[in-house]
Amino acid sequence: MAASRRDRPEPAGIIARYAELLPLTERTPRITLNEGGTPLIRSANIGPELELDLHFKFEGLNPTGSFKDRGMVMAVARALEDGSKTVICASTGNTSASAAAYAGRFGLRAIVVIPEGKIAPSKLVQAQVYGARVVALDANFDRALEVVRELCRQFPVTLVNSLNPDRIEGQKTAAFEVVDDLGDSPEMLFIPVGNAGNITAYWRGFKEYLAAGRAARLPQMVGAQAEGAAPIVRGQPVADPKTVASAIRIGNPASWETATSARDESGGAIEAVTDGEILAAQRLLASREGIFAEPASSASVALLIKMAHARRLPSGTQVVCVLTGSGLKDPAALEAHLLPPLRLEADARAVAKALKL
Ligand code: F0G
Repeated sequence: MAASRRDRPEPAGIIARYAELLPLTERTPRITLNEGGTPLIRSANIGPELELDLHFKFEGLNPTGSFKDRGMVMAVARALEDGSKTVICASTGNTSASAAAYAGRFGLRAIVVIPEGKIAPSKLVQAQVYGARVVALDANFDRALEVVRELCRQFPVTLVNSLNPDRIEGQKTAAFEVVDDLGDSPEMLFIPVGNAGNITAYWRGFKEYLAAGRAARLPQMVGAQAEGAAPIVRGQPVADPKTVASAIRIGNPASWETATSARDESGGAIEAVTDGEILAAQRLLASREGIFAEPASSASVALLIKMAHARRLPSGTQVVCVLTGSGLKDPAALEAHLLPPLRLEADARAVAKALKL
């Protein structure tokens, strides 16, 4: 709980810290790359302006730069325990980076299957440098995942997409951390939704903490999808999903039903935001809060702002926005929206004049 965090040093990694709430056996290796323990950052500007008690759970500070590391450490630990030699995933980028890193460190072969040309280049580089074999398919993410699932049925390879229940188990620890930091669940949790594993994981985490007596209430779960890739909002799969937020460019989420259960059981919502709203929220988060999150992550902030402006959030509501990945993962998404550098001659007077110093 909150007090113990200050009183004694935390063990490193989510397996050691939350062992009693994870499906471990004596033989599960207690591995870690120091995932988890990410900061819950109180909003300095956006929250006060919207009259909300707003906090950001910044998952971009995980070892490979996204929340995927929480689930991956569990999935890889269980794969090792089961004697697996190879892990495989389909990915919009972050899962592949995470799978590659954990497999590299803990001696497994990693195969990652990506939709060709549809993932941020830095994420591809991560998968490559951590040593994964990268397969690019002329297909979207949904089709790539179907191919990977078929391979898992036919060959002795371990699936480490969020269909793997160990992934969800690891990811639920983010909800534990939020409650440990706030002393209870927030009133509302805003989270981006792609394949819908993470909203499933948070909801499970909050419910388990309530059952364990470590939280007194549950949050309303509010999921954000991108308008061009919003199957859950529309109520039907999207054949050709499109959005600047490539991490959530998914037309047929694998965890669709558990995501809608989280929404309905919590009295929450899953709604869409436009690419323009996503990129505006990303810049606002960076320029007013000092937090650089990737476009998919910023969808949660975009939806928060939209709902606040529509007066749908009572003044003073305690809100946590989950920022799932680092902005450094996909700088190109912002390119057209940034102020270009002033190109000046190397002369102090000329620089001073241009800057009106
Ligand atoms: N944010 C980021 C940065 C992501 O990478 C993802 C998913 C999500 C949000 C959505 O999470 O799928 O659990 O609803 N990325 C996956 C991947 C699909 O392959 O890296 P979700």
